[in-house]
Amino acid sequence: MQEPNNLNKAAPDPNSPFALLGGAVGVQAIVESFYSIMDSDQQYLPIRKLHPKDLTPSKEKLYLFLSGWLGGPALYIERYGHPMLRARHLPYAIGITERDLWLDCMKRAMVQLQTPPELQTGLLQTFFGTADWMRNQSEAIIP
Ligand code: HEM
Repeated sequence: MQEPNNLNKAAPDPNSPFALLGGAVGVQAIVESFYSIMDSDQQYLPIRKLHPKDLTPSKEKLYLFLSGWLGGPALYIERYGHPMLRARHLPYAIGITERDLWLDCMKRAMVQLQTPPELQTGLLQTFFGTADWMRNQSEAIIP
């Protein structure tokens, strides 16, 4: 019997984004760049200030999550169970501004690490879906 995909015990898929990014080392590098850009450029203050002063746990959790989400070992699920990302983000006010800052910061991390452009484009589309799903503020619609 086949194991469910999200347990990912089988050999890693060589065409997964996880593998194309360079495996665990590559994904850790993206997370590191992502948070160091967020931490050093004032324009990201609206999302930086939602995070704790010490970003170490945030980095660790994002890495564990992205590992599985990008097709590598499902480390977050093994440790914490179902990610329930939307519920876990409910304590933070996330609107279009916060979503777009998060995505911009991720884009800069991938540019900094010279992620192949076609992989960047694909990942940003996927990140957009998840980041948009995280919105929990109703936005004023200006006619
Ligand atoms: C849309 C804008 C987003 C904002 C403003 C935001 C903000 C945050 C904040 C403030 C935390 C708590 C950090 C901590 O407890 O150390 C967090 C946790 C987390 N975020 Fe986001 N986030 C966003 C989008 C995303 C996206 C798109 C992903 C994944 C693709 C993601 C993955 C995670 C994960 C895995 C955690 C840890 C959850 C836990 O176990 O507590 N976030 N986020």
